[in-house]
Amino acid sequence: METTPSSSSPANPAEPLNGDEKKKKTTTTTTTATAKKKKEKEALGWMEWLRGWFYVVYEFLFQRIMASHLQNPMPLPPINDLTCIVTGSTSGIGREIARQLAESGAHVVMAVRNTKAAHELIQKWQSEWSGLGLPLNIEVMELDLLSLDSVVRFAEEWNLRSRPLHVLINNAGIFSIGEPQKLSKDGYEEHMQVNHLGPALLSILLLPSLLRGSPSRIVNVNSVMHYVGFVDTEDMNVVSGRRKFTSLVGYAGSKLAQVMFSSVLFKRLPAESGINVLCVSPGIVQTNVARDLPKAVQAAYHLIPYFIFSPQEGSRSTLFAATDPQVPEYCELLKADDWPACAFISQDCRPTSPSEEAHNMETSHEVWEKTLELIGLPPDAIERLIEGEDVKCTYRANQE
Ligand SMILES: NC(=O)c1ccc[n+]([C@@H]2O[C@H](COP(=O)([O-])OP(=O)(O)OC[C@H]3O[C@@H](n4cnc5c(N)ncnc54)[C@H](OP(=O)(O)O)[C@@H]3O)[C@@H](O)[C@H]2O)c1
Repeated sequence: METTPSSSSPANPAEPLNGDEKKKKTTTTTTTATAKKKKEKEALGWMEWLRGWFYVVYEFLFQRIMASHLQNPMPLPPINDLTCIVTGSTSGIGREIARQLAESGAHVVMAVRNTKAAHELIQKWQSEWSGLGLPLNIEVMELDLLSLDSVVRFAEEWNLRSRPLHVLINNAGIFSIGEPQKLSKDGYEEHMQVNHLGPALLSILLLPSLLRGSPSRIVNVNSVMHYVGFVDTEDMNVVSGRRKFTSLVGYAGSKLAQVMFSSVLFKRLPAESGINVLCVSPGIVQTNVARDLPKAVQAAYHLIPYFIFSPQEGSRSTLFAATDPQVPEYCELLKADDWPACAFISQDCRPTSPSEEAHNMETSHEVWEKTLELIGLPPDAIERLIEGEDVKCTYRANQE
């Protein structure tokens, strides 16, 4: 079986390090120099906003051409010894990711809020797979990212098993277009909680298990929409009135917060831990994410199948980030180079640069600190967990 893109393919993670990465480095220096000025920023500047939308439209129009070198489904390297947790695997991209990982031999844990739907899927997959190999090694655990309590319970239950974890895929996400602003019962804006705070808490609480499974990876299914995102760390819930809330503001901001948080997490994890952190753009994919779109837009979605990826196509960049043997090497290079952001893999499985705003290290650190505060973890949580100490999550106290 052919493996994922080889060193000669354009999807080789090391490739852009030669030319593009140098260019990006210059940008970083400039960004660091202007960080002080950006502190006062209350929104993206016009040019950044326009450039962001340019990336979104470009991805929409050209993703199929850019990804034309990729096979579908993407062949995976041998992964029989991997244990992977995939959140939000009952639908869309996550469902494809879970199925393909399991069919390639991995032990897959579907971390989902609708456990009944997940069990039904497993039954279906097992019967379709029967006769093609060993039964799929796949199980279900309950996780509702709208409840930090559920995240803590999930992690406690998983950590009790003392098993190694090799890949955590934070895939679950929401984009409640056109809906009024909603706060979770924990008191956080729902996009921010499901797309960023919940996955951040999960990633940190599962570090002991990822350490046991090292070399291991945390792969966050992010979005090209983070290019138009902005995070105000004084107003993560977008309730102060300084910015008008729309679901787009909520979604894009949560995705940018995830990139920024992941970058600091990646930096704080010592190289010896062998845990890498990546963000991924799946492309523009036809899934249930569009369920809340206005009917007219949903109809347009169906009329433009050429441009839009199927969930299987949309799963490739995540599967690449989760399994390609060259990915750790690429991440190590970024770490050694003191690159300000974590690795970001585009929908065509090429390493790319996240948004300009994501390179703002000062804001990234503020996002890191604010996130830890909101999810109730101490500032030295990573260091203590890596040392094997117990860390208590105190978010409930924050609510009182
Ligand atoms: N589709 C795109 O064009 C696109 C583009 C860029 C990025 N993405 C990202 O890709 C990821 C997957 O989205 P998708 O397009 O596959 O959408 P989807 O079909 O709606 O799948 C989202 C998954 O997340 C789960 N989920 C939602 N809220 C949850 C919660 N509170 N707790 C636990 N799980 C929850 C859903 O579970 P239920 O089935 O129970 O609702 C579902 O399994 C998301 O992070 C999304 O932001 C998608």
